[in-house]
Amino acid sequence: MLSREDNELLCRVGPGTPMGALLRQYWIPTLLSSELPEPDGAPVRVRILGEDLIGFRATSGRVGLIQNHCPHRGTSLFFGRNEAEGLRCVYHGWKFDCEGFCVDMPSEPPESTFKSKVRATAYPCVERNDVVWAYLGPRPTPPPLPDLEPNMLARGQYAIQKVFRECNWFQGLEGDIDTSHLGFLHLGAVQPESTTPGTFDYYNVADRAPKYDVVDTEFGTSYGAYRPAEADTYYWRIAHFLFPFFTMIPTGILGVQVLVRAWVPIDDEHVMFWSIGVPRSREGRAGTGGASTLALGGRPVAAAGARVGDVEFLPDTTDWTGRFRLTQNKDNDYLIDRAAQRTQSFTGIAGIHQQDQAVTESMGPIVDRTQEHLASSDAMVIRTRRRVITAARALRDGGVVPPGVDRPEVYRHRSGGVVLPRGAGWLDATKDLRRAFA
Ligand code: FES
Ligand SMILES: [Fe+2]
Repeated sequence: MLSREDNELLCRVGPGTPMGALLRQYWIPTLLSSELPEPDGAPVRVRILGEDLIGFRATSGRVGLIQNHCPHRGTSLFFGRNEAEGLRCVYHGWKFDCEGFCVDMPSEPPESTFKSKVRATAYPCVERNDVVWAYLGPRPTPPPLPDLEPNMLARGQYAIQKVFRECNWFQGLEGDIDTSHLGFLHLGAVQPESTTPGTFDYYNVADRAPKYDVVDTEFGTSYGAYRPAEADTYYWRIAHFLFPFFTMIPTGILGVQVLVRAWVPIDDEHVMFWSIGVPRSREGRAGTGGASTLALGGRPVAAAGARVGDVEFLPDTTDWTGRFRLTQNKDNDYLIDRAAQRTQSFTGIAGIHQQDQAVTESMGPIVDRTQEHLASSDAMVIRTRRRVITAARALRDGGVVPPGVDRPEVYRHRSGGVVLPRGAGWLDATKDLRRAFA
């Protein structure tokens, strides 16, 4: 449970809010490079952290991210002409470059110097491995990008997916650090008899109430959730929250899985989910290991849990929230099939990601955390909320730079499942397996 005040602090991300200030300390995945496919191509509407911006790829190939409203009299620069290294407003022709400088003001007499006094808000962008990262923060020189392994591999080795979700960013994120829902929402209809003994699947459904060990780390928080495997071993699911909105979930095999997920706030009530990872077929592990081989309704459970998997999108629109929308959504009850729910699926909703989407969106745009009843299975959620709220307050009240901003190397991490002897300490025993770029 959170107080009303803490819930507000956690969820509000606009300019001037404490959480908005915390998030603006970091680089933010903002667009796929493919959303701006060509120089001088069509600009796109980009809403991020509650700010309405226009993204465009200039003649040189650089990406610009500029305020929506033209500084002259407020026309949307979405309608602008993207030409000769800048975006020209179609109302009176004022033109802005990627830094937001007004580089042409043809509606004023040639001797006027007024254009040198006008500057639009524009945010620095860099592209790395098909992701456009933007920095909306206060520093004149932004910090380094985080060393996230899946975003630093050779081209062709990784896959990226985005999905729009209609709820607050932290509400979505909490689903990623809540390992106990796996045995219900996703695997609730699977009985141990239908799995292969000795696999992660078997352990997951043979005991649906794991115990947790949760720790603070230099990048955020980590948990190890454990339950019996064999007589002398435990099956551990090890996963991380990394400031400010990244997660590494435990679906695959620790030491093999290369995956990061991000919950990037669009505004207070919408979030863009990102998944960047090495497709399982490319992980190159020997044998099937312990990862899930279950296929529910034709969808491999683990593959879909780790990667977005089998999802269908509505046609894109040019609206602020018009891209990466699922065909299964709250307007059609996620196409719930009540007959399937009675006979073969815990939810009747097809698809792991869609199941997650349904439960978190159904809480409402911003869940009222004053009404919760948190249990022992919520240990990681509780610790992570506290960590993030504390960091936002420390920045607001003392100017304390939050974790990871100036230390890109702390992001070099991996998550996954592993079987350990019962006496082993999970942090020590998995030190090498949790290291990225192994
Ligand atoms: S409103 Fe943009 S140039 Fe006048
Ligand atoms: Fe889930």
